[in-house]
Amino acid sequence: MTQNIEQANPRWIDYNIPRSDRFSDTYYSKIDGQGETDHVFINGNNLPHRWSQPDHFTIAELGFGTGLNFLETARQWSMTWQQVATLQFISFELLPLNTDDIRRANSRWTDLQPLTEHLCQNWSIDHPGLHIKFPCNIQLDVIFGDANMLLPNLNANVDAWYLDGFSPSKNPELWNKNLMDDVYNATKSGGTFATYSVAGYVRRNLQSAGFTINRAKGFGTKREMLIGQK
Ligand SMILES: C[S@@+](CC[C@H](N)C(=O)[O-])C[C@H]1O[C@@H](n2cnc3c(N)ncnc32)[C@H](O)[C@@H]1O
Repeated sequence: MTQNIEQANPRWIDYNIPRSDRFSDTYYSKIDGQGETDHVFINGNNLPHRWSQPDHFTIAELGFGTGLNFLETARQWSMTWQQVATLQFISFELLPLNTDDIRRANSRWTDLQPLTEHLCQNWSIDHPGLHIKFPCNIQLDVIFGDANMLLPNLNANVDAWYLDGFSPSKNPELWNKNLMDDVYNATKSGGTFATYSVAGYVRRNLQSAGFTINRAKGFGTKREMLIGQK
């Protein structure tokens, strides 16, 4: 079954940093996207420390974009893998990039190239969802469409969330109250989230959903970011 999915059409800064005109924002930090993923999403959720138990660990993300968050997470998982544990990474994406754009957006990180290539060789937007297996028991599921429609049907018990929409002022539909309630409901007890955003209404939505919120040091020039726990 082929479906009509609108694709993203990024503009490029410094050759390989993608920016969306529609949302007036870059897909990741212009300073260092890989460093931002490590600081905000991986360390913000206290990973890889929480991977030390041989088990099944589920990460879910709002906004797959270039795949950088997934790729860097998969790289760190592979380096610390316990031989039995499984990582499931579920991500929602309204406007997928094509493989040329995914390769270009991740081209500055040579340590991500094998994973980027594996992602691109298996990438397809012909179906509403994409399931790709990676080495070291990593399973990627990308679900195409509006997270507001799709998340209520997510059948998962999420350990850690990466909340990575574009800037809340430009992409409010990825930070609204109903969606943050859905994020909370899909989270395991003790599960966590991390986001670069400290927008007041995002914090209030996450708090009223039920998360305990803390501020942490932000990445690069950003003073703060938000982390939280169910
Ligand atoms: C900041 S980018 C994500 C960057 C990404 N995590 C990465 O590693 O490259 C935000 C993403 O959210 C997606 N998005 C925006 N609104 C959405 C929605 N309503 N549902 C699902 N995805 C959405 C955008 O298309 C974009 O790819």
